[in-house]
Amino acid sequence: MTALTPLRAEHLFHGAFADEYHFLKLICPLSLVMSEKVAMAVAAFKAEHPEPRSLSAMEIGAGTGMTTQLILAALGEGSLTSIDNAPAMMVQAETHLKEHVASGRLRLKTDDALSALKDLPSESMDLVLSAYTFHNFLEGYRREVLKEVLRVLKPKGWFVNGDRYGVDDPAEHLKTIQDEVRGYFRVFREINRPDLLEQWVVHLLSDESDEHRMRLKPSIDSMQTLGFGLTTVSDRFEVNALLISRKPCL
Ligand SMILES: C[S@@+](CC[C@H](N)C(=O)[O-])C[C@H]1O[C@@H](n2cnc3c(N)ncnc32)[C@H](O)[C@@H]1O
Repeated sequence: MTALTPLRAEHLFHGAFADEYHFLKLICPLSLVMSEKVAMAVAAFKAEHPEPRSLSAMEIGAGTGMTTQLILAALGEGSLTSIDNAPAMMVQAETHLKEHVASGRLRLKTDDALSALKDLPSESMDLVLSAYTFHNFLEGYRREVLKEVLRVLKPKGWFVNGDRYGVDDPAEHLKTIQDEVRGYFRVFREINRPDLLEQWVVHLLSDESDEHRMRLKPSIDSMQTLGFGLTTVSDRFEVNALLISRKPCL
């Protein structure tokens, strides 16, 4: 990390890019697979911690609510707070998840990750969950968020992150990104939306910038340095990976 990496949150999800984020399913069908993997990790946590109590969980980056829905199903009786700093995304989450909000199981909050975490007491969450959100963070900000995730987790709690982690081999990584761009052109040409093509390409350039891109091993090393315990990686496909990091029981 450079000393100049800013600690601020960015606002990258607005306009047609955010309002029509449902195109993600066409552009990246694997994203739904990752949402399911995050929910499966919730089920795995419950299987490892069978004591009969209702779990507390937080999701960072609700987006349209695609992953939130699956987390809630896996969580059973537990309660979930889900935050996102983009009003345009929150509007969609509120529409898709209104029954869960009405039932009291889900709290949706428009807030940035760092300030939402700072509002929580230490050791108050069994699970902190996220899908495709941390790669949007500037590196310095991400580090601060991770420190807070560790603080709010209960001992033995899990941080589950399904996200973009660059492929270690640079040539392979480049090829993966080039294929991704070709996919954008194919989809948006077919539906004749050059405006969205432009916005998705611009967003990908942000994802791929040095200040944002995560790589698998350095990310795990950095979490270890912050104090996370055992981190396992599963479901590595293309630039995607599911990480489960445990908070040690000191
Ligand atoms: C790629 S979307 C993923 C949404 C959702 N998790 C899913 O699986 O579909 C990333 C989300 O993270 C949100 N986000 C980005 N930076 C954020 C921040 N600093 N604080 C809170 N949310 C943020 C964006 O608004 C966006 O909705």
